[in-house]
Amino acid sequence: MKKILLSFITLGLLLCGASCSRKETRDVEKGSISLIPKPQEIVEKSDYFQLTRRAAITLDRSNEALVGIARYFNGKIAPATGFELPLEKHGKIEFKLTDDAALGDEGYRLQVKRSDIILTAHKPAGIFYGVQTLLQMLPPCIKSGKTQPRDTKWLIPCADITDAPKFRWRGLMLDVSRHWFTKEEVKRMIDEIAEYKMNVFHWHLTDDQGWRIEIKSLPKLTEIGAWRVPRVGQWWHREPRQSGEEATYGGFYTQEDIKEVLAYAAERYVRVIPEVDVPGHSLAALVSYPELACMNAPEAVNVGNKFYGEDENTLCIGKEETFEFMDKVLTEVAALFPDEYIHIGGDECYKGFWHKCPRCQARMRAEGLKNEEELQSYFIHRMESILKEKGKKLIGWDEILEGGLTPDATVMSWRGMEGGIKSAKAGHHVVMTPSEHCYLDLWQGEPSVEPDTYSMCRLSDSYSFNPVPDSVPAEMVLGGQGNLWAESVPTFRHAEYMVWPRGWALAEVLWSGPEHTDWNSFYPRVEKHFVRADEAGVNYARSMYNAIITPGKAEDGEMEIALSSELPDTDIYYTFDNTDPDHFSPKYESALRVPKNATWLRVVTYRGGKPSGKVITLSIKDLEGRISRGK
Ligand code: ACM
Ligand code: ZN
Repeated sequence: MKKILLSFITLGLLLCGASCSRKETRDVEKGSISLIPKPQEIVEKSDYFQLTRRAAITLDRSNEALVGIARYFNGKIAPATGFELPLEKHGKIEFKLTDDAALGDEGYRLQVKRSDIILTAHKPAGIFYGVQTLLQMLPPCIKSGKTQPRDTKWLIPCADITDAPKFRWRGLMLDVSRHWFTKEEVKRMIDEIAEYKMNVFHWHLTDDQGWRIEIKSLPKLTEIGAWRVPRVGQWWHREPRQSGEEATYGGFYTQEDIKEVLAYAAERYVRVIPEVDVPGHSLAALVSYPELACMNAPEAVNVGNKFYGEDENTLCIGKEETFEFMDKVLTEVAALFPDEYIHIGGDECYKGFWHKCPRCQARMRAEGLKNEEELQSYFIHRMESILKEKGKKLIGWDEILEGGLTPDATVMSWRGMEGGIKSAKAGHHVVMTPSEHCYLDLWQGEPSVEPDTYSMCRLSDSYSFNPVPDSVPAEMVLGGQGNLWAESVPTFRHAEYMVWPRGWALAEVLWSGPEHTDWNSFYPRVEKHFVRADEAGVNYARSMYNAIITPGKAEDGEMEIALSSELPDTDIYYTFDNTDPDHFSPKYESALRVPKNATWLRVVTYRGGKPSGKVITLSIKDLEGRISRGK
């Protein structure tokens, strides 16, 4: 049975991969549609619609949003097809808004028939998501930046799809502080998430390693705070700035850059939530404006050297200047970003300097605050007042619960779901981003063959995310998001590697709903989207193909090694004799015992008789170390 399933998958992949060749595209069969996220309802038919340069789009031309979506659609098809579709009265493709509110703000109905395509929604956002579905129904080479041969057949399988999202917050966070990503890269990430119907881009703009947003009234934040000395190598093990070294690594977005990104995101129905991470994670701000420190501001922006608890990175809450500073920052941020929310961070605030600071202690006495947690809460309350004056709502990481939550705060729960659960029960809106499902900076497979980081979040972990645990009032959970912290993400290409395919898993959970997820339907679709990503030059991780190696202790105290895979149709081969494993090596059947004097275990995965994952080489000592570390 497995073999039959496998050959269908292989055939599907071949068809998918080859579907841009002129000959193969003749046959579009039922079952050839492969959408992420999976729509709520789909009825596939066996015929197809052929997209040609003679097709045209019909829509209400007085509706700018619809005209914008048609422009977007043409922008997506033109590079590969070599044509754009004109707007005409009686086109074969119709974008139609309806008064019927049953589809909600983001839902749509897409009817693809041999003769025409009708896309209906209550709001333009729904039309936009219907267009994403339509684009995913075209062959993968629609994503190629290169014009395809003129006789390529652009076939869209016939189907009737009714679809709407489960959650209204389907986000991705990008940390642009720890490593710098250009405006163009940020736009590219927004474009990529929008293609998977994600609608929130959380922009982590400030942190200890760089302040990235121009604040005109505080120019030193970007003249000084946006720059550090160049370093590569393992985060927390880097050499700090040496005397005489110039800070040449970094960058920042001017307010004009930000407006450009916001306009680009708006065209893709993506909200942009700016984050200014305070009162902790503020080292770059303190280097720029040392008077905001409790005692001694650091002299240089952190490069990824260890500093926590040694160099100050918290704003002094005893000083009124801190609140004047925050008022200036938030005034400009509020004027720039149209979204109702501003994220003020609040996470991982080391409170040791406040404890030693005479001004912070004086503030605590004056305000009757019992401890430094309450001092942080005092700060967050004042941030909420500033934001309210500017017509904005506060959102922060779950540490803002400590010392007492502000009345109208929305909580982003990252240390598991506990903070989110507590807040939702207390009547606060929450966004769930528990690290075990949503932290895209973590390993996505066997660590020895992954780039450096510190913990595990496999594709299947992201896919098993349920943002609404039992007992939580569902209406308080806005949704969830993936978070890409960038300590170990030095390039945009690597950012893509970390985001995809886990971002697809989160997109499906958040759009289709956790109750509609099905791993056995998901991973073959992931494989088809790998082909699309290849066409688009988008990077992604193939880590789901690698073996999972789990050492443990047997009852007799000896080491026992379990090998497994995230994919059900995988064969695993191994060696202990220092040779490269292949499908002639021993095949894994049950937990392994280490032969006497063996020093290395080597493992490789096969699917359909072909190597699928990387060869993993682990020393027996390493495996023993993993047992003692409990990992
Ligand atoms: C966080 O990961 N510090 C929110
Ligand atoms: Zn202080």
